[in-house]
Amino acid sequence: MQALQNAVSQLVDNEALSVGERLEQICELLRSSITHYDWVGFYFHEDATQTLKLRAFAGEPTDHTTIPFGKGICGQVALSNQNFIVPDVSAQNNYIACSLTVKSEIVIPLFKNGKNIGQIDIDSHTPDPFTEEDVKLLEFVNQKVAEIV
Ligand code: SME
Repeated sequence: MQALQNAVSQLVDNEALSVGERLEQICELLRSSITHYDWVGFYFHEDATQTLKLRAFAGEPTDHTTIPFGKGICGQVALSNQNFIVPDVSAQNNYIACSLTVKSEIVIPLFKNGKNIGQIDIDSHTPDPFTEEDVKLLEFVNQKVAEIV
């Protein structure tokens, strides 16, 4: 886990890449390093339209590149400012399905100067895989990313 955190830090600090490229590479790194991460993406708030915009991802392309605040797991986190772990997506009413193979999801808000400005979203094909380890890792990733967005 420490090695992965170090690799994330190095990517965030790599000024040879654009911020968009760094975000994409972080998504790829997380997806390829952790077996239960099947889709990894960063959404950011667009306050004027009260929507989330997908900025970078790794995994299958999704139709859900714009999500209204309040809709789905992601939209709920935009308003609640709280981590949201979903062990079983089929048990959620307010859920936006990307693919039938997705069984679980975790969304961690990304704060800059104390303000919720976006989130990292992970989909998993494994039921109930997320633990406190994932929360710690993803909170670390978001803190680092907040330095460059
Ligand atoms: N499942 C999410 C939508 C985004 S996709 O997982 C990429 C949700 O309910 O907000």
